Amino acid sequence: MTGPYRSPLNEGVSVAAENEFKPIELGPIRLDTPVVLAPMAGVTDWPFRSLCLDWGAGLYVNQMITARALVEENALTWKLAEFGANEPIRSVQLYGTDPEYVTRSVRLLRERLNIDHLDMNFGCPAPKVTRNGGGAAIPAKRKLLYNIVKAAVDAAEDVPVTIKFRKGIDDNHLTFLDSGKIAEDAGCVGVTLHARTAYDLYSDHADWDAIRLLVEHIDIPVFGNGDIWEPWDALRMLRHTGAAGIEIGRGCLGRPWLFNDLVSVLSGREPSYTRPTLGLVATTMLTHLDKLINFYFEDPEESIVRRFRKHAGWYVAGYPVGKETRRLLHAVSSKDELQAVTDNFDFDQTLPLEGVRVKRSHTGGPRKVSLPDGWLQNPDADVKLSPDAEVNVSGG
Ligand SMILES: Cc1cc2nc3c(=O)[nH]c(=O)nc-3n(C[C@H](O)[C@H](O)[C@H](O)COP(=O)(O)O)c2cc1C
Repeated sequence: MTGPYRSPLNEGVSVAAENEFKPIELGPIRLDTPVVLAPMAGVTDWPFRSLCLDWGAGLYVNQMITARALVEENALTWKLAEFGANEPIRSVQLYGTDPEYVTRSVRLLRERLNIDHLDMNFGCPAPKVTRNGGGAAIPAKRKLLYNIVKAAVDAAEDVPVTIKFRKGIDDNHLTFLDSGKIAEDAGCVGVTLHARTAYDLYSDHADWDAIRLLVEHIDIPVFGNGDIWEPWDALRMLRHTGAAGIEIGRGCLGRPWLFNDLVSVLSGREPSYTRPTLGLVATTMLTHLDKLINFYFEDPEESIVRRFRKHAGWYVAGYPVGKETRRLLHAVSSKDELQAVTDNFDFDQTLPLEGVRVKRSHTGGPRKVSLPDGWLQNPDADVKLSPDAEVNVSGG
């Protein structure tokens, strides 16, 4: 391991001073480290959450599930909602468009899975949901947003509820300040702002100024989300915005040790894993795959390894492993094959400087937002969405 590295962007950023950042209380949940693993569809299952948990501390949110599918007893949805046997905080993200289904699904989540925390997603920019008024389009209709959130909070009873949203539809239709107030009025214990609009998708930089505005606008804790790739970014974001905490998405893909570094810098210590060796990467990849094989024990190994391929690509992102190794990693279909590829890694190779901020997963946008006709007129209209607005697609 080399010493802590910081990109030029983070020159001069110091680790936290004593008591600079406070623990966060979300109802009965206390987070000593104000860090949340962002819900990511197809990624934040128990194997990945437990890997991140092994490295750090914070709140680790399960994958997004949809309210209607839970109520309709969709087996795949219930599998997605599964927690680890000893998972310390059972946190799940729900997406719903109809208050009635939200009420029923939250009751089921409480009764069957004994959840400790519920997050609700209002940030999905996928055209097939926004064109029906769902996902990131919902905050443009304030009553609808309030009714969905209030239904969740009431049904959750003593389980704390947070919501996650984007800045708005586009720069001419910003909704995040209203959404924050609605969350507060409905009884949420916190909110997360992915500081981009639906139009932005994942392009350019997240707008941390917007996070600061939201912090100034509401009294419940705000988690800032967007573009934390190095532990130093977290310190910069917290200091720039005054947010209570941070939420990390793509930064930890193929980098679960980021959580260790976050605990370090937030407790005043230098980070240790800013440029990990390929040896550590190889061991972690194999541990991750083992966890997946144990968790999805009913699935054939080959299908599990196929699903692991995207992770494999993220693990080696930024390392000079060569085209052939990347091709082999994209083609692995068994644990033995993965082991054979990683055995050929140069175990002492550390992450090159230019690899530290290399982006993983989504980078697309900007893109015009598909919306129902007239959607942006009359934000206080009463609307009811069709079930087509509630499909389960990744994004937020
Ligand atoms: C693969 C992937 C899947 C995602 N799925 C969800 C999701 O189901 N719910 C959600 O609220 N956000 C989802 N997001 C968005 C992230 O939670 C996060 O808001 C976004 O990536 C911005 O944060 P980042 O810059 O730290 O990655 C997803 C992002 C990625 C990359």
